[in-house]
Order: sequence, then structure tokens, then C-alpha cells
Amino acid sequence: MNLDVRTDQVVQELETLAAFSDVPAPAVSRIVFTETDRKARAWLWGLCSEAALIVRADAVGNTFARWEGSAPELPAVGSGSHIDAIPHSGRYDGTVGVLGALEAIRALQRAGFRPRRSIELLLFTSEEPTRFGIGCLGSRLLSGALDPAGAADLRDGNGATLDQARAAARFSGSLASVALPRDHYHAFVELHIEQGPLLECECVPMGIVTAIAAPATLRIDIEGEGGHAGAVLMPYRCDAFLTAAEVALAVEAAAKGSGAIDTVGTVGVCEIFPGAVNSIPSRVRMLVDVRDIDLARRDRVLEAIQRRAMAIAAGRLAGLCTEILNADAPAEASPLVVDALRRASAEQGLRYRTMVSRAYHDSLFMARIARTGMLFIPCRDGVSHRPDEYAAPWDIENGVRVLAAALARLAA
Ligand code: GLV
Ligand code: MN
Ligand code: MN
Repeated sequence: MNLDVRTDQVVQELETLAAFSDVPAPAVSRIVFTETDRKARAWLWGLCSEAALIVRADAVGNTFARWEGSAPELPAVGSGSHIDAIPHSGRYDGTVGVLGALEAIRALQRAGFRPRRSIELLLFTSEEPTRFGIGCLGSRLLSGALDPAGAADLRDGNGATLDQARAAARFSGSLASVALPRDHYHAFVELHIEQGPLLECECVPMGIVTAIAAPATLRIDIEGEGGHAGAVLMPYRCDAFLTAAEVALAVEAAAKGSGAIDTVGTVGVCEIFPGAVNSIPSRVRMLVDVRDIDLARRDRVLEAIQRRAMAIAAGRLAGLCTEILNADAPAEASPLVVDALRRASAEQGLRYRTMVSRAYHDSLFMARIARTGMLFIPCRDGVSHRPDEYAAPWDIENGVRVLAAALARLAA
């Protein structure tokens, strides 16, 4: 199929979307259900309407823009990603998969293609865990992986519940209504930047994902004893942060000691209370991210971290409790979608390699209810979750081309 992909327009739209941000450019912060997120969603809704798509949102704000096929009763083909952005990140994570899928649909429309199955663009709510501590909130609910009753109790850092936050963003209705049946989608494809260096290093324009690594998040609360930073002498202290510091090193040791390069562990959040330079930390909350492509090994590392943390706290006479916020299984891509992506790459004359996704994505959960696959494009130096994240226009164009060709195959 001869596709007229309007790369300049997509790049311009990515730029416009990046301007919906709560921090100065080039950094982007767009946290779910904030005013900024709402404005970005409204703008995107407008773009989808201009492309003659039928747009609707569910109770948690997952948004669906449908290009009706000639057999609308058949399960649709879905494609999309997220537009929320972690604090001080870049402009391509997730957004390329949303605006890229929109351009893929527009290019197919321009080519005069008429899908048999409907093609649906999806924007998932809160792929990032920033506000509610759990990633892929929208796709977890959509796939039935998260119990709606438990989700309603989720709170953000200011104590607002998910229900309050979504109501403020004008998303209402029962969370139980978000889950979709297993046969709702015939297939789902997500276009995304690689967030790693392989494609760029190997000069390969395209990555076809065969599996997504298993992520887990562990919350660790440490209780010490506060006091005056000048008056309490060192032998008499129980500094919660010093326990946390040792625990952080234990996370590194456990990940490095797993026996595999594929295990990674990160302490990305460490909140110190009361957070005053002249006050001994009395409490610390840490969030620990552990991932691996091997589920059993990931779980062994999680366990080792918890055991070691308990021992460190006991040795320092501090209190410590841990809670696993999520421990998800890895996902495998569907052969049907991988095959469609392979053929689409060949049709567009683009080389590809198969690869594992070490980052998680909404596809991790879509794989539970639909035949799912992912397409990666290179990003500069493999950098992501940073303001200098960058994907070149030609790589975005290649991604849109292959995505469009794959959607056409899956929807034909
Ligand atoms: C997604 O942003 C991830 O943390 O993998
Ligand atoms: Mn991300
Ligand atoms: Mn992402």
C-alpha cells in the first residue's frame, strides 16, 4: 500500500502536545487528571473528531476513537498508548504511540483504505504510576487485572481518592464498567520509542517486541526517632534515613546479585519526614522498582530485598514494614500480531529485529484480553524518562508506516 504519511504534521502535533506541561520546556510533566492533562485530552479529542473518528471515554478516562469498519460487529483492532508524562520527562514516551496511531489511521484514510474490522485508537489513563503509585491504571482496569473496588480506594500523595480525582476531570460512572470482555479486540498493537539503545546501536529502524519484562513495585516505610540535629549525639540516634540508605544499597546488591544482567532494581522515591536540615529524619517512605524478564528470579530478588531490609532495620532498632504494590507477570506478544508486523515491515521495505521490552507498557495488560504486539522505534542514545528524550522524524515516520500497514492487515 502506498502511504502518504505526513511526518511534519505528526512532529508538529508532538510539539503541541509537549506544550501541555507543568514544567518549562524541554522537560515535560503531565500528571493524570490535572488541568494540564485535561486540556491535552480535550485537544486530542478534537484531532480525533477532525479525522472523523467516533470518540468516547470510559469511567476512568480511557479514551477510544473509532474508525468504523465495514463489518462493525466484528471485534475491532486497537492501537494506542498514553499521554501522561512522569515529572521532568520528555515528549515522546507514549505520545508517539497515540499521535502515531492517529496518523496511521489518517494515512490509511487518505490511501482510500476501508477497514473491514473497525480500527480503534486508544489513549490509556495513567500508564505512569506518578499520581496513584501504580502504573497502567487504565489498562489494568480495562483488562480486569485490577479490582475496581480496590482501585476506588487508591489515593494520591495529597490524599485525594481516584474517585475524587476522576470526578474532578469529569469522568464518572462505575469503575466496574471499565473492564472489556476478552473478545472485544481482535488484536492490539502499540507503537512506542524503544527507551533503550539497541536499535540505534545496531542501525536497525524497527523493533518487533516478543515479550515485556515483569515489573514490581515495593513500598518500604521506615520508622526511626526524630530529634534536634544539633542536640542529639550520634550514639543516641535512630535515624530513619540511615536505615533507608542501607536498604537502598541492599536493593542494588540484590539486583546485581541475581546472577543475570536482566534484573534491575531502582529506588526512585525516598521521602524523608519531616524534611528539615536541622531535624533527624523520623520517617522515610521508599518506593522500589524491580524488574526482570524472568518472573521467578524477579520474585526471588523482591523477597531478598524484603528480608535484607528487615535485618537492616532490626540492626538499627528502627521499625520497618513493606508492601508489594504490584508484582506483575511478563507478557508474550501474540504470533498473529508479530507476523502482521513482520509482513508490514517487509512491505514497507524496512529492516527489523525482534526484542524484549524492559519497560512496561499498557500492552502488558492488553495482552490479557487481546492478541497483542508492540513496535519500537529508536530513540537517541536510548534515553527516556528525561527531558532530552528524542526520536527523529524519519524514525517516527517509519513507525507510522509499519503500524499503518500492520493495522490494515489485521483489520482486513
Ligand atoms: C513505564 O514508563 C515504565 O516505567 O516502564
Ligand atoms: Mn514512561
Ligand atoms: Mn510509555
